[in-house]
Amino acid sequence: MPEPIRVIVTGAAGQIAYSLIYQLAKGDVFGADQPLYLHLLDIPPMMGVLEGVVMEITDCALPLVKGVVATADLAVAFKDVDAAFMVGSMPRKQGMERKDLLSANVKIFKEQGEALDKYAKKTVKVLVVGNPANTNALMCAKYAPSIPKKNFSAMTRLDHNRAQAALAQKLGVGVADVQNVIIWGNHSSTQFPDVAHASVLINGSKKSVSDAINDKDYLQGDFVKMVQTRGAAVIAARKMSSAMSAAKAAGDHMKDWWFGTAPGQHVSMAVISDGSYGVAADIMFSFPVSIKPGGEYQIVQGLPVSDFARKMLDITAEELLEEKKDALSLCQD
Ligand code: NAI
Repeated sequence: MPEPIRVIVTGAAGQIAYSLIYQLAKGDVFGADQPLYLHLLDIPPMMGVLEGVVMEITDCALPLVKGVVATADLAVAFKDVDAAFMVGSMPRKQGMERKDLLSANVKIFKEQGEALDKYAKKTVKVLVVGNPANTNALMCAKYAPSIPKKNFSAMTRLDHNRAQAALAQKLGVGVADVQNVIIWGNHSSTQFPDVAHASVLINGSKKSVSDAINDKDYLQGDFVKMVQTRGAAVIAARKMSSAMSAAKAAGDHMKDWWFGTAPGQHVSMAVISDGSYGVAADIMFSFPVSIKPGGEYQIVQGLPVSDFARKMLDITAEELLEEKKDALSLCQD
């Protein structure tokens, strides 16, 4: 058996963590033979609830779990972690402006970036889930200067999975038969779900999704809108935000980052922009990435960008530049 790894989940008493922790603990993400220590961080008023989560982990009797560290102390929580799921953040409350949410949450990620810098392994892989995820990840990376920026990412995998599943349903095939959809940009309603480079396997032969659906108005209209607003639709129906699917997506993101993507396949991940595809550098932008075993990712290069795609990429990049400006000034306060 390999040496145990240390995995932190922040916001560990919350609803996404409740689904995520079980996946981690039973080996779905880091492998069925990978023992681990679970580090669970939440805020002091949630320590009672967290105690209950720890009881449940114990009662699951999972052999891969070598220990659980449940705490509100950042120094204890981030000590020597190999992988970080940064879920904990303040949810949007009624009447709250986007800027108020940004203000409350970027400060959390500034502080936790500093803790990663001080206490985590320098090789730690950081996945930010808490919203506004892209800009939180940017701030987290900024305040952890001793850890390479490429070790930070934000989650757009839920949007990617939503797009893939919607196309599979439309085409009447299994989800695994649809590949290489792309979410570009921000995890927000400006994101661009793009099928121009996606393929589908129908009756054993591979086709482009655009040809198989052959309805440009749908693919550039209702489909894009549906993916962009799916989170709101789940909230409207469930009266709570996506949790099971968000936890599954977080597991998918980290598993692909840990083990690599299959040859010829790419996934969507918000990573630090290097200026690829004419996107401003130094924002956390969701790109198609391919990942080597062991975790080195590359932004997939050379995909043709249509005029429509260019417009969509520019809109979402513009929003991220604005968020970055606001976040930087808020962190200086
Ligand atoms: P939740 O409200 O059930 O749980 C959040 C937890 O974070 C709470 O237990 C809270 O006490 C904790 N928390 C708050 N401040 C903290 C801090 N400073 N340190 C540690 N923990 C802290 O929320 P839920 O449903 O689990 O969602 C968590 C976040 O994930 C939200 O920001 C939500 O918007 C975001 N989200 C992101 C998605 C994505 O695709 N990127 C998808 C779905 C949700």
